[in-house]
Amino acid sequence: MIILAFESSCDETSAAVVEASGSGRRILSNIVASQIDIHKRFGGVVPEVAGRAHIEAIAKITHEALDTAGVGMGDIDIIGVTNTPGLIGALLVGVNYAKSLAFSYGKPIVAVNHLKGHVDAAYFASEMLTPPFTALVVSGAHTSIMDVSTYTDFREIGFTRDDAAGEAFDKAARVLGIPYPGGAEMDRLASLGDPTAIKLPSPAISGDCLEFSFSGLKTAVVNYVHNAKARGDKISREDVAASFTAKVTEAITEKLSAALTVTGSKRMVMAGGVAANSHLRCAVSDMCAEMGVEYFAPEMSLCGDNAAMIALAAYYEYMDGNTADTSLNAKATGDD
Ligand code: KG4
Ligand code: ZN
Repeated sequence: MIILAFESSCDETSAAVVEASGSGRRILSNIVASQIDIHKRFGGVVPEVAGRAHIEAIAKITHEALDTAGVGMGDIDIIGVTNTPGLIGALLVGVNYAKSLAFSYGKPIVAVNHLKGHVDAAYFASEMLTPPFTALVVSGAHTSIMDVSTYTDFREIGFTRDDAAGEAFDKAARVLGIPYPGGAEMDRLASLGDPTAIKLPSPAISGDCLEFSFSGLKTAVVNYVHNAKARGDKISREDVAASFTAKVTEAITEKLSAALTVTGSKRMVMAGGVAANSHLRCAVSDMCAEMGVEYFAPEMSLCGDNAAMIALAAYYEYMDGNTADTSLNAKATGDD
């Protein structure tokens, strides 16, 4: 089965063609048009600007995705699209474009939850990964621990009460003068710094819950930098990045290990943009090894937003009988 899919929930416009059958999955094309350069000067994603940039990019990258895959619309069996969660104006571009194509070419359309897409990116990495498992989606917009019971069913069992981990990375980076999105640069700097140099609060909510709060950690970094500047102290960006990253990594491994105990899972997936963080990947991999849990991570290139992950999620939804129609709409949050 050949799937054409779209992703436009935030600041990447993506179109991909994936071939899937049984346990076979092959990415024929995965074109990502990033808007980072557009949003950089604002220090973050501007929703209105994102929507307009998606409109400008989507037709062009669809042609590119089909050409790269060497297929035409006649070869496409289903069309998948992210319809939730995300920026409403951004999501609407992908949803309406996908609906128009589905209507014009008489193809089934399948709605995909963006978080589920991130998790499904891990299926490309190994045929050994099958549900049930526990997953963490950690990105610029989400920090969700999920109990994945089948290829299509999942339940959020852990979440952040405020900022997402990636958002905290980007804001801490910003106060250090690193351009948006600063997560990858924080990762690099953290390898050069002392993780115990600066005392920072933990983003893990204490107690049995599987909840995080990253806003206190972010504010602590902002205050530390502002106070140090006011005193005229020299700031080591490496030490700030290392201390910040250590707190994020400790909190995530603590709550993941608690989640694995609750679910009893023997498999674990970590996905989303922040899952590209080298320190976090090492810590989670070590934690899984200690707990006798198999750890699966998507390839680095599939950690960030892309449409190949949406195509695979659409395939599983379709195989489960979940198709949409032209009344399909976008939803900013998964539960509104
Ligand atoms: O999944 P994604 O591409 O978009 C969302 O759905 O949010 O994630 C983007 C986020 C940004 O906050 C970015 O700074 C962060 O992922 N990120 C990283 C790293 N690479 C990307 N954060 C920490 N370490 C990294 N290596
Ligand atoms: Zn994402």
